[in-house]
Amino acid sequence: MSDMPCDFDSTMKRLEACGQAQVLSGWSSLDSSRRASLLNQINTLPLESIPELVAQCVLSHDHGGGSKDLSPPEVTAPGPDEAAELAKRGEEIIRDGRVAAFTVAGGQGTRLGWGGPKGTYPATPVSGKPLFRVFAEQIQAASDHWNTRICWYIMTSEANDSATRDFFADNNWFGLPRTQVMLFPQGMMPCFDAESGHLLMEAPDRLAMSPDGHGGSIAALHRSGALEQMSVLGIDTISYFQVDNPIAPVIDPVFIGLHADPARSSGEMSSKMVPKISSGEKVGVFCKVGDCTEVIEYSDMPEDLQEKRDQQGRLVYDAGNIALHLLGVEFAQRLCNSNELPWHRAVKNIPWFDQASGTHMTPKSPNGVKLERFIFDALSLATRPAVLEVERSREFAPIKNAVGNDSPESCRQAQSNLYGQWLESHGVNIARNDSGDVLADIEISPLTAMDASQLDSTDLPKAIGPADRILF
Ligand code: UD1
Repeated sequence: MSDMPCDFDSTMKRLEACGQAQVLSGWSSLDSSRRASLLNQINTLPLESIPELVAQCVLSHDHGGGSKDLSPPEVTAPGPDEAAELAKRGEEIIRDGRVAAFTVAGGQGTRLGWGGPKGTYPATPVSGKPLFRVFAEQIQAASDHWNTRICWYIMTSEANDSATRDFFADNNWFGLPRTQVMLFPQGMMPCFDAESGHLLMEAPDRLAMSPDGHGGSIAALHRSGALEQMSVLGIDTISYFQVDNPIAPVIDPVFIGLHADPARSSGEMSSKMVPKISSGEKVGVFCKVGDCTEVIEYSDMPEDLQEKRDQQGRLVYDAGNIALHLLGVEFAQRLCNSNELPWHRAVKNIPWFDQASGTHMTPKSPNGVKLERFIFDALSLATRPAVLEVERSREFAPIKNAVGNDSPESCRQAQSNLYGQWLESHGVNIARNDSGDVLADIEISPLTAMDASQLDSTDLPKAIGPADRILF
């Protein structure tokens, strides 16, 4: 936020200095309140850094992926004994109240045809619980199990902040202590014309803006006071997860134990991976670039490298990013101060207001650039980040698309399969089809069991038939 005075002359000077004077070309047609709101908006932007941003991120087309010298990352895949040891260390940290849950929930459910914030989407196979409730129950269950306080931080966006707050209030904060849940909006970035690098207007008195990506969550944690609050409360580890994956284990002792093991990690940032199911699966992949660990987004990964296999026929770059990370609070603070996360450019059809003709334009082809930061770019700024391999069936069933892969249907099936497996481990007979999918709809609330070991065998049925709908 700039502390420059908000008047026409000084704003115009700053705009001229950064090659964006056109923003005020419609000034004479605006009334005084619209003039004030436009000046206010312009003066929230770091105008002095815009020329460099335009040159490096808006007008440059370099994705970088092809030119990098890549190799596969080091991945930890602990056996049962090692996992138990890590879990022991992690549980101590959880009990000491040092871990907070953090959901990035800036997205809308647009791709799903859902009108509200994505976190309000009904996700579970039997009761249709919304995503936010699933996470709230996990946090409640973990707090009870380890007899500790787990604060929950949720990043919203300008588009869904008030709807998200209303949803939490309407649901009585899901029974969680009100003081332990904090919502705050992410930042916004201006949109640019892809040809000229000019700031795009959305209306005569408003610049076109878009959310600054989940990498903006670090700055948002800082701006909102969340990082400061964490330090005061003695929280040193942030468990980061996306709102779209209801089976993400929000508080995982094994992962936390690994992150805190000085022999394997600096405690700055750790991530989870699952092997990709196919070369074309749309997930980012963990790679080593020189000495740094990075995630390369599927759209930036050259096709020959996506397809590359080793002598056993396994994909060389198969470490799929499931967007589950742990971040040290001190590391997050350092990231804020250094402002080093790069901007990624997305060329989109961006509706805009043409000041010359006074018309609202709806482009039919990509005309503008949105800039986003990605959280996983922090990996290359971390010392010795650890990457943990986990079971896809236990941890990753995102809801992204209306149908097909990563859809509500595939997620419900993944949940029934997972809970069916938990029940089978207690001797319950479960009907499955030829592909191995559980036929019944099965749902186990985290409040009943956070994993198979917490199920009480005495309460379980002997068998679950194909048409059953069972809620524990
Ligand atoms: C993302 C990852 C991909 C990973 C996959 C796993 C990116 C660029 N890619 O892909 O590497 O394999 O998840 O599921 O992230 N969000 C915000 N604010 C924003 C943008 C996003 O809060 O400005 C949140 C969304 O609400 C969502 C999450 O971040 O929860 C993911 O964003 P999305 O753009 O949907 O990424 P994916 O394409 O799913």
